[in-house]
Amino acid sequence: MSGRRSPSTFTIRTFGCQMNEHDSEKMSRLLLDMGLRPAGDSIPADLVIINTCSVRAKPEHKALSEAGRYQSARRHRGTLVLLTGCVAQQEGQKLLKKVDYLDAVLGPDAIGRLPDIVSRLSRGQGPLLDVQLHTRSEPRFINVDPPLRAGPKALVTIMKGCDNFCSYCIVPYVRGREVSRPAGDILREVESLARAGCREVTLLGQNVNSYHDARGTGFAQLLRALNEQAAVERIRFTSSHPRDVDEQMIAVVAECQRVCEHVHLGLQSGSDSVLRRMNRGYRGDEFLDKALRLRQVVPQIAITTDIIVGFPGENESDFQRTLAIVEQVRFDQAYSFKYSPRPLTAAARWPDDVPAEIKTERLERLQLLISECEQERLSLQVGSRQQVLVEGTSIRDSQAWRGRTRSNQVVNFSSNGRLLPGQLVEVEIVEVRGHTLWGRMLDNG
Ligand code: SAH
Ligand code: SF4
Ligand code: F3S
Repeated sequence: MSGRRSPSTFTIRTFGCQMNEHDSEKMSRLLLDMGLRPAGDSIPADLVIINTCSVRAKPEHKALSEAGRYQSARRHRGTLVLLTGCVAQQEGQKLLKKVDYLDAVLGPDAIGRLPDIVSRLSRGQGPLLDVQLHTRSEPRFINVDPPLRAGPKALVTIMKGCDNFCSYCIVPYVRGREVSRPAGDILREVESLARAGCREVTLLGQNVNSYHDARGTGFAQLLRALNEQAAVERIRFTSSHPRDVDEQMIAVVAECQRVCEHVHLGLQSGSDSVLRRMNRGYRGDEFLDKALRLRQVVPQIAITTDIIVGFPGENESDFQRTLAIVEQVRFDQAYSFKYSPRPLTAAARWPDDVPAEIKTERLERLQLLISECEQERLSLQVGSRQQVLVEGTSIRDSQAWRGRTRSNQVVNFSSNGRLLPGQLVEVEIVEVRGHTLWGRMLDNG
């Protein structure tokens, strides 16, 4: 395709986890730096990026059908359609062959090369493929400058890739080997985000609590250093691996005033034999001990989780073990999924032998219990005072404000005066409506 003109507007559609969300932010900043503007509802985009997720079949299909929606814009207006992220990495060349309306297929580690790719496409050089993954010796973390004015919350990459190879999971294949970003770069990024107005950072990685940089800084030390730097008011992190939760990490959450009381710990299953076949590296009782220990040392802590039902070979008594652990931990929030075989993974070679209707039935039973626990955890907050970071006005009621507690619960609340996103206020929790806390701001907040 020759004679393309340079794109002047762009749109990014994001699927998947916070890594992808953050990658989309980085791509957006690179495009803004090149002089492109975000397309609005009335301005069609000249460049469309579909940032994909391949963790389960459903998000993969959703992302691909989203890309299909831009076919006619491409044909009639010359819109450039780029597919990025984990499906791009997984399928690579095959996608370019199979789907004839893509201008580029770019893996997660090609983001830094986006400006060059866009200018090559504008010169009519395409379709392009870049699925080169980082290596341990050349990790290529992109140090994109934070914007001059940041929002109240920001994501900060501390590591990427994963070496755990859980038998169901495609992430190690599409995100490559685990590499930790130098602590100095992380501290600098948080400092400049704070200067730009950010109040809360979420440290991101597939397995943040196995963080260790080349100078030997571990996760607990990194959190202490950020806490002492005192650039932002709140520090969060996700995801943690249950196997890597240790006393040092628990102590940091308990002692560091800026580190928020929330951990996301994927349980996946409560059955020892399923956990063994999943290659998770812990038994059900070890998970339970760690979760209860966290609750004992940090009573305010919210524990959230991910659970898979219908993993190959999971029988009713395995599933009962999962229910039993959920019953005992009483998660503040849990995301549950039906097992979905993924290419390249070890489990994909085993028969997907739990019938679809049993997967559905187990998911329903699990979600019922989860919902009960979530409601109970929310009700426990009624009457308490919570520090809330204001995010904006409430979605349900434009007269009310919305923010999050330190343990990451959404709170809608009333206030006598106007508030600004980024303010920290004290709110008394008055009631639970549906899945949301409602409260009123305290005068001395
Ligand atoms: N690194 C994170 C998980 C990232 S993937 C962690 O280990 O906690 C997010 C979640 O998707 C996983 O926790 C798991 O519950 C789910 N998941 C991953 N692969 C899956 C598959 N093949 N089928 C169903 N769910 C899956
Ligand atoms: Fe996937 Fe396991 Fe790595 Fe999480 S820890 S990204 S579930 S392989
Ligand atoms: Fe999906 Fe890739 Fe994240 S597979 S969950 S977007 S790392």
